[in-house]
Amino acid sequence: MGVRFRGWGMAVPDRVVTNDELSQTLDTSDEWIRERTGIRERRIGGSSGSLGALAGQRAMADAGVSADSIDFVLLATTTPDRIAPATSTAIAAELGLTCPAMDVNAACSGFMFALRTAQGLLETGNKRILLVGAENLSRWVDWNDRNMAVLLADGAGAVVLDYDENGGDILSFVLGTDGTAAELLTCEHGGYFQMDGKEVFRRAVRVVVDSAQEAMERAGITSEDISLVVPHQANIRIIQAAAQRLGIDMERCVVVLDRYGNTSSSSIPLAFFDARENGRVHSGEYALLTGFGAGMTWASAVVRWS
Ligand code: UT7
Repeated sequence: MGVRFRGWGMAVPDRVVTNDELSQTLDTSDEWIRERTGIRERRIGGSSGSLGALAGQRAMADAGVSADSIDFVLLATTTPDRIAPATSTAIAAELGLTCPAMDVNAACSGFMFALRTAQGLLETGNKRILLVGAENLSRWVDWNDRNMAVLLADGAGAVVLDYDENGGDILSFVLGTDGTAAELLTCEHGGYFQMDGKEVFRRAVRVVVDSAQEAMERAGITSEDISLVVPHQANIRIIQAAAQRLGIDMERCVVVLDRYGNTSSSSIPLAFFDARENGRVHSGEYALLTGFGAGMTWASAVVRWS
């Protein structure tokens, strides 16, 4: 028994903000941002609720399922539109749903933590879940702070998940939290994101590698079996360093941060969507989904697409 991935959708704001545009108001440059992060441009605008609803609608259309067949809406977000009510309720309302809806916050690991939650819900009686990752990080960025302004962006990705009594696509899951590292990346009420970038970088590579290795071990495979890595999109150098340590070449890693920046909970579904659009997802093949974020949190899963 298990979880089947049915259909995917994404939504990003129309407004493109290039590195050159940021350089006009910040002491930075296109060259620095590209070399140190891999980001060329990002999308800014909208709200977590509006982007999430659009991505959700597209995922349902892609899956060919009607809204009334959804029996739970899960939203992974670090940037809810309001403290209360949960932004997932706005998404449910926009889609005409009255099933349970709730938000999950695990920062940039949010999509993975929500996927794990969805797995539990599907294995205990739910039939179909709409899982959305949506972020409006730009609202919580100090646009005078070059440390964060060049990294964070807005966007949403969504997936329809079905229960299947005959088997599932998720073969293993490894998640964790180290709350003693909380101060490395924070955003206070009414404040802005702040980060010790160097230390987050160092730890990110470690937790991605460790959790990915354990997830592959639990799935009974090695890195050679992995056809596709769908990593959290924070920094190209983090992806390169982790991939190298795992013995996985970059050709197998999905990279969309050059176009979308770091969209936190949305980055893994955005990256997956892009990979599928480009014909990189094939049934029967193994993929590694892996993320990390504030908390610190981390999560890796091995899946085999059906
Ligand atoms: O989503 C999960 C959380 N986020 C992350 O995973 C991010 C993790 N960290 C990182 O991606 C990187 O640490 C950053 C991209 C944030 C920074 O890259 P770095 O290679 O660690 O740079 P650095 O902080 O060591 O800074 C190098 C230099 C410094 O100047 P000095 O001291 O060498 O003169 C910085 O002041 O670059 C300077 N700098 C900048 N220069 C131009 C820092 N930010 C910028 C900037 N533009 N935006």
